[in-house]
Amino acid sequence: MKKVAIIGAGFVGGTAAMRIAESGLAQVVLVDVVEVLARAKAFDMEDGRYALGSDVRIESAGDMKALAEADIVVVTAGLPRKPGMTREDLLSKNTQIMKSVCQGIVEHAGSAIVIVVSNPLDVMTYLAYHLTGFSRQRVFGMGANLDSSRFANLIAQKLFVGIEHVQALVIGSHGETMLPLPRLASVRGKPLTELLDSGEIDDLVERTRKRGAEIVSLYGSGSAYFAPSAAIFEIVRTIVSGSAKEIPVSVCLEGEYGLRDVAIGVPALIGPEGVERILTVDLNDAELQSLKGSAQSIKDSIGLLKI
Ligand code: NAI
Ligand code: 2OP
Repeated sequence: MKKVAIIGAGFVGGTAAMRIAESGLAQVVLVDVVEVLARAKAFDMEDGRYALGSDVRIESAGDMKALAEADIVVVTAGLPRKPGMTREDLLSKNTQIMKSVCQGIVEHAGSAIVIVVSNPLDVMTYLAYHLTGFSRQRVFGMGANLDSSRFANLIAQKLFVGIEHVQALVIGSHGETMLPLPRLASVRGKPLTELLDSGEIDDLVERTRKRGAEIVSLYGSGSAYFAPSAAIFEIVRTIVSGSAKEIPVSVCLEGEYGLRDVAIGVPALIGPEGVERILTVDLNDAELQSLKGSAQSIKDSIGLLKI
């Protein structure tokens, strides 16, 4: 059985561990500097095994040695947003955390696939890619599939259709400049642009962009974790199952879309080795310009990194 190590046993890490363990997909170890938190969550989840009939063990640790032999490392360590905070506000604090986490990954899980979740997502992905020195195939960030899932959910609600009938894609930063692509969205194969007028579409796009912040302000403290852990699960399941699936992730580009030296959300073929291929969708001029603008905003934040 594959081993998935989740660094950060908070809301996102804890729920991701639960989804993975309960599905029987992989053995899970939860690692947190607050070791008792990781232990409490592992005990609590394991106590449900009998009732659920799911026999997967969850280990816990306060030390990076627990990453040994992990096939996948999911990094959720970091501070979440508070109301009024942008993801970029988290930059400096989470950079320090990412440095110590990457050191642990290199030392103890040198051949693992690393899925970055901590915010600001694209900047942290770029940082992890450089700090680990792993190939970009093995270091990428979860954000664009969460945003795509949010866009799809809002489309399904608006049109009163089952989610399985909706196709939706969001690319760009996992931040204010994310790029929901209504032109490429469809319901039962019919383009969204034929189903809704431009005002309604603009509203869905705006609500998708603000969905994370909406949930932050509703919780009052902390950010979303149910949909984020579902988005982590989608990626982990694809890798572990040995299949391949198109999933948008944040990955360092090397000329794709005319961009380089930046990690940003783009569609990719995810498979057993991680990012098997970066996919290029045909963007029109306006979409390409927006993607470039989004990349510039990430680069501006990367420029603030002290590495
Ligand atoms: P949380 O505060 O509940 O959990 C974070 C955990 O990380 C804490 O338990 C903390 O003790 C731990 N931690 C801090 N430094 C550590 C270190 N050096 N080693 C190990 N553990 C360490 O926060 P939550 O809600 O779980 O969010 C985690 C991160 O994920 C945040 O940065 C948040 O902004 C981000 N996030 C990203 C999403 C995405 O789509 N990429 C979606 C949702 C959250
Ligand atoms: C979200 O999109 C905070 O990145 C997190 O909910």
